[in-house]
Amino acid sequence: MKIAIGNDHAATDLKFEIMEYLMSKGHEVVNFGTDTKDSCHYPLYGEKVARAVAAGEADCGVLICGTGVGISIAANKVKGIRAAVCSEPVTARLVKEHNNANIIAFGARIVGAETAKAIVDAYLNAEFAGGRHQNRIDMISAIEE
Ligand code: RB5
Repeated sequence: MKIAIGNDHAATDLKFEIMEYLMSKGHEVVNFGTDTKDSCHYPLYGEKVARAVAAGEADCGVLICGTGVGISIAANKVKGIRAAVCSEPVTARLVKEHNNANIIAFGARIVGAETAKAIVDAYLNAEFAGGRHQNRIDMISAIEE
C-alpha cells in the first residue's frame, strides 16, 4: 500500500520507527513531516496527510502527535477524511471494519512503539465490512454537504 505519514514534534522518533516498520513490510511510505523535534503546529501536518489521502495520492494515512487527538481533529476537517484515534489494536481493526477510516492516528505520549506497530498491523490487515456500515458512512458524508 501507499501510506502517507505525518506528525508533530512530539512524535518524530516514533514516526521514523513506524516508517521503517511499514517499509520493512513492503509498503511505500510518503513522509509529510515534521522530521525534527523543534516545536511545530500539528494542524499543518494533519492537513497535509489528509489532503493527500482525500486526493487519492495515498491509500491511507498515519498521523501521530502527542495524543493523536489534535492532529486527527485537523485531518477530519478535510472533506472525505475519516481519521480515527486508536490506542490499542482492537479499536484499530474496528475503525477499518465499521468506519472505513482512511487515516489512523495515535499518540506518541500514549502508546509505545510495539503497541503502535500492533495498531498499524491491525488496521492494515482489516477489511471494511460494508453493508449497514456503508449506510452510516453515507450519513457522515451527508453532514459534509
Ligand atoms: C504538543 O505539545 C501536543 O499538544 C500535541 O502533540 C498533541 O498532543 C495535540 O493534540
